[in-house]
Amino acid sequence: MLLLAGGAATAQQSPGSLGPGYDPLAPSHAPAPSAPAIETSDEYGGLPVGEGVDLTYYMCGACHSIRLVTQQRVTRARWDYLLDWMVEKQGMAPLPPEDRAVVLDYLSRHFSSGS
Ligand code: HEC
Repeated sequence: MLLLAGGAATAQQSPGSLGPGYDPLAPSHAPAPSAPAIETSDEYGGLPVGEGVDLTYYMCGACHSIRLVTQQRVTRARWDYLLDWMVEKQGMAPLPPEDRAVVLDYLSRHFSSGS
C-alpha cells in the first residue's frame, strides 16, 4: 500500500489567500466540551502532542501520509522492526540513535497494540 497525500512541504498555503480576517495563529476550533485526555496537534497532522511529535511528523510523513503511520496498532517490537525496514527497504535516511529512540518511544506510546 502506498498513500501519496502530499508531504508537509507541499501543504503550505499563503495566509493572504484566506482573507484579511485570517489569523494563522488563532486556534482553528474551540476545544470540545469533552476533550480527549490526549491533546492532538493540528500543526502536526493531528498527531498526539508529546515528546517526539515533530520528529515523527517530519520523518514519517515525508514519503507517505502520516496517517499510514497513525492507523497502525502494533507492538513496540514491530515499530522497532518497521523503523529498520523503512531504512533498509524503503530508503529512509537512518536516524541518529537518540532520535530513533525518541521516535520509537513516541510510536510505542501512542500507536501500540499494548503488548
Ligand atoms: C524514504 C521514504 C519513507 C520514509 C521516510 C518513511 N517511510 Fe514508511 N513506507 C515507505 C514506503 C515506500 C512504504 C510502502 C511500502 C509498501 O507497502 O510496499 C511505507 C510503508 C509504511 C508502513 C506500512 C507498513 C505495512 O505494514 O504495510 C508503515 C507503518 C510505515 N511506513 C511507517 C513509517 C514510519 C513510522 C516512518 C518514520 C520513522 C516512515 N514510515 C518513514 C517509505 C518511507
